Amino acid sequence: MFDLAGKIALITGASRGIGKSISMILAQNGAHVICISRNINDVQSVVDDITNKKFNASAASCDISSTDNVTSLVKNIIDEHGKIDILVNNAGITRDNLLMRMSEDDWDKVLNVNLKAVFTSIKVASRSMIKQRSGRIINISSVVGLTGNSGQVNYAASKAGLIGMTKSIAKEFASRGITANCIAPGYIETEMTSNLKDDVKSSIKEQIPLGRIGCVEDIAHAVAYLASDEASYITGQTLTVDGGMVM
Ligand SMILES: NC(=O)c1ccc[n+]([C@@H]2O[C@H](COP(=O)([O-])OP(=O)(O)OC[C@H]3O[C@@H](n4cnc5c(N)ncnc54)[C@H](OP(=O)(O)O)[C@@H]3O)[C@@H](O)[C@H]2O)c1
Repeated sequence: MFDLAGKIALITGASRGIGKSISMILAQNGAHVICISRNINDVQSVVDDITNKKFNASAASCDISSTDNVTSLVKNIIDEHGKIDILVNNAGITRDNLLMRMSEDDWDKVLNVNLKAVFTSIKVASRSMIKQRSGRIINISSVVGLTGNSGQVNYAASKAGLIGMTKSIAKEFASRGITANCIAPGYIETEMTSNLKDDVKSSIKEQIPLGRIGCVEDIAHAVAYLASDEASYITGQTLTVDGGMVM
């Protein structure tokens, strides 16, 4: 466990999968978590699970594909809570196709949600972090951003882009007490991956030295560590959490 008491944490894509688990685990470590997704009912039910366990959480809906939406969301949270200590950019989408068949719309949609929204949220949230001379920015990338993947030109570009963006931000903000890191999950069992065929899943499993597909908590615990004071000397890094698949 880490001591995140008194910290305000914003988590995008918190209604299910990895974001839901990050929200629960940061709350269990003492943070007040603000859970974001487009669907307010889904994200409210995550918040209800957290508050039923006597931890602190609130919900807001936001479609982060719009810059205006992200800007007002982050500003409103800072107005209401006075600060953001931990920003977890987790929301992500896929629109897979081979390059020759990929539409410009599928490229734009993925880049807007996975990369541009992260630029905007950091730009707005960092003002409050700079003022308090502390902050944690954690961006959820993917091993696909390191290795590339056939059929995921848009997704891989967005996830590799996050890694370059995070290193640049780490350099810009290091003197202000703000760290910025990426986590690159491998294959994690969530709705995003549930539609893969069984034979594809077992061939992925064969490539994982630790011999199992990841669970959402594997990622959430790594986020809690990077959010903690114990990780204060780590910045600009990409932590692969993938059972050893990429090394
Ligand atoms: N699962 C894996 O194996 C894996 C591997 C590597 C990296 N990742 C990355 O980890 C992150 C979470 O993945 P996951 O598997 O948990 O995904 P998921 O189950 O598909 O959940 C995605 C989350 O993002 C939210 N979201 C999607 N579009 C949004 C938008 N326009 N505005 C606001 N919220 C939006 C969704 O909520 P709403 O639909 O309600 O908006 C949902 O809460 C993603 O960035 C993904 O790329 C996952």
